[in-house]
Amino acid sequence: MTGTGPLISLEGKVALVTGGGGGIGRAAALSLAGAGADVAVIDVVPERCDEVVALVEGMGRRALGISGNVMDVEAVTAAVETTAAHFGRFDVLVNNAGGVTWRPFAELKPRNWQRHIDMNLTSNLAATSAAIPHMIAAGGGSIIAVTSIEASRAAPGYAVYAACKAGINNLTRTLALELAEHGIRVNAIAPDSTATPGMNGVFDGSADPARWPAPSPERQETIRRRIPLGRQGTAGECGDLIAFLASPLASYITGTIIPIDGGTWAGGGWIRDRAGKWVLPPDLSPAN
Ligand SMILES: NC(=O)c1ccc[n+]([C@@H]2O[C@H](COP(=O)([O-])OP(=O)(O)OC[C@H]3O[C@@H](n4cnc5c(N)ncnc54)[C@H](O)[C@@H]3O)[C@@H](O)[C@H]2O)c1
Repeated sequence: MTGTGPLISLEGKVALVTGGGGGIGRAAALSLAGAGADVAVIDVVPERCDEVVALVEGMGRRALGISGNVMDVEAVTAAVETTAAHFGRFDVLVNNAGGVTWRPFAELKPRNWQRHIDMNLTSNLAATSAAIPHMIAAGGGSIIAVTSIEASRAAPGYAVYAACKAGINNLTRTLALELAEHGIRVNAIAPDSTATPGMNGVFDGSADPARWPAPSPERQETIRRRIPLGRQGTAGECGDLIAFLASPLASYITGTIIPIDGGTWAGGGWIRDRAGKWVLPPDLSPAN
């Protein structure tokens, strides 16, 4: 299901999605196109750009694939400028690209921090900085970041990633105020575990979900017990929320970070025991 409802109309709007070739970014591109937008994606895997361009064009919308690395500020800036020049306007920026490698903070070297910061925070600053003048000139726009539930809780093994995502949460709130007078709304979505190529260990090649390995039964059981709605989120659900936030339906929403997590954040540590009863982890015995 993509955002094709009559009220979620992005007819005539132009969007750029970073990391838009796979996972949540690809789903955002398709939901935005489904709502009527023309869509550009920047992705480090060229064949993923090509796939999304073909899918968006197949939906009757104009598309632009930009092969590039969001860790390069100049490449991100150029992607914004190329999008605006190609389509003649720039309305929606989706700061989706991000990623993480698990490692305890004490083992990280400065180059490891820098990589996480470049990927998760600087890429967002660069795209946002380049997009704002176009949105101001157009009299408005919408900026949507894909942050994470890890921005709002401790994240052992993911310290720098979580710090970057927390930074994006606060950037979202601050820019919502700074840009309100220009009609630019700034929001974020905060997923928990979502089925994407990255979550399934597929980092290049096709982003077609049909080609990913299925999660093991043990993993599925863990997900059932940990996430209140009992399953991982889908990239399409995130894409539809992004299309909603970009649309006139969200015209009075700015400065928000919306969890899209099946209830995990609300759960605050409660999990199901094997029988399905909600418990806090100290209640877990081997029998539970
Ligand atoms: N999947 C989850 O469970 C989850 C949970 C919380 C937050 N998030 C966030 O959602 C966003 C998207 O995650 P995902 O799981 O869809 O990722 P993914 O790895 O499945 O897809 C990311 C896309 O970005 C592209 N990409 C990777 N590095 C790039 C770079 N340096 N420059 C340009 N493109 C690049 C990849 O080729 C891929 O197409 C990230 O910001 C991530 O932190 C994901």
